[in-house]
Amino acid sequence: MTLVHNWHLGRTMEYPYFESRPEHQFAAVFNINRCIACQTCTMAHKSTWTYSKGQEYMWWNNVETKPYGGYPQHWDQKILQMLWDNGNNPMEWFTGAEDKNATTAPYGLYNGDTIFELAKNKGLNQVAVGYIPDDKEWRFPNIYEDTAASEKTNYEMGSGADKESSELPEHKRWFFYLQRVCNHCTYPACLAACPRKAIYKRKEDGIVLIDQKRCRGYRKCVEQCPYKKPMYRGETRMSEKCIACYPRVEGKDPVTKGRRMEARCMAACVGKIRMNGLLTGDYKKPDPKNPLDWLVHVHKVALPLYPQFGTEPNIYYIPPRWAPRSYLRQMFGPGVDEALDKYAAPSRTLMAVLALFRASQTMISRFEVEDGPKIYESEVMGKKVEVYNDTAIGYAADGAEIVRIKIEEPTWESDEKRMVTY
Ligand code: SF4
Ligand code: SF4
Ligand code: F3S
Repeated sequence: MTLVHNWHLGRTMEYPYFESRPEHQFAAVFNINRCIACQTCTMAHKSTWTYSKGQEYMWWNNVETKPYGGYPQHWDQKILQMLWDNGNNPMEWFTGAEDKNATTAPYGLYNGDTIFELAKNKGLNQVAVGYIPDDKEWRFPNIYEDTAASEKTNYEMGSGADKESSELPEHKRWFFYLQRVCNHCTYPACLAACPRKAIYKRKEDGIVLIDQKRCRGYRKCVEQCPYKKPMYRGETRMSEKCIACYPRVEGKDPVTKGRRMEARCMAACVGKIRMNGLLTGDYKKPDPKNPLDWLVHVHKVALPLYPQFGTEPNIYYIPPRWAPRSYLRQMFGPGVDEALDKYAAPSRTLMAVLALFRASQTMISRFEVEDGPKIYESEVMGKKVEVYNDTAIGYAADGAEIVRIKIEEPTWESDEKRMVTY
């Protein structure tokens, strides 16, 4: 094991390989608040990569209903239970240690064990704690769809949502949709676990791939990826996982004329909840004009999923406003409150960047905002919110303007002769 820096945790941690960050990192931000669980992403993905024999159960992209749903079933509860039962300081964060001005400890200091540290402390003969889901757990990709948590659950979590209130930010009965793909982690547990060294992380874009020529089906990747995103294919006796649609990311699709293109599941999103692109590889030097760097590092409105696992995942989420904070803090770390404050009363820049979500399937590398007139004013949870009809402009990596969009959506009124009366 060597010591590497994990900026999500605000500290160094043990990992079997040296720290080596790619030049750019494949990443995405998912705005949970906008997801309608139409599963278009899931089907876009399914019809592109996993329609063959032995891949029937493979859903490299899935959307599950939290808190009860999961694919495979209970994947997160099982890992959380391991960290909770055996950790020295089970999933404990020191939030006083946060470093507001730099990106080295933006959420605080994680004092619990990661999946790597726990395996070492327990003297296990594996790199990270984990388990292999059984067939039953892989059977229902969307179990508990739209099933709400009860008031009793809220009460047990001590969230305060049991009190007389059904207003934002917390609802008495709640659920939300969690969109899940491989996180193309900075410290992938799948890669670290593979005894064949069949998994590698690309230097140019941080995409994590399984080399099908080297894989011998040991399934250590399935066992030790905490997000359960590598999947074993009995037909070929090898494992497979999300490939981040790398031909599209490389600009091989003629539609975008050689420019980098969003992955299939991202580009298909009907709810416009996803923005896919590349983060600056050096987390200490985020580019404030890169929309993903801005959301993750500068504005900190988008958070990693279960940062305490320790893999430094690269898919980020804007948490849902209505779910109990205690549940969200466990899922996205202590940055939840700041992120939700910012999302509930959005700044002009945030409104502009949100307007660029799914505005083009070419990846946006840089954005600008042109000022427009004020069109709306209100108050949200005691905070003044002003909306301006600004123009958000997105540019590709080669500097070409690829999208220009106003905050206020245009509306048209049909003329009378087109009205149908009965
Ligand atoms: Fe590997 Fe899992 Fe991370 Fe994907 S989410 S890179 S499969 S550890
Ligand atoms: Fe599938 Fe591509 Fe989405 Fe990965 S990025 S889940 S390969 S559609
Ligand atoms: Fe390695 Fe996973 Fe194949 S552990 S050998 S990549 S099944």
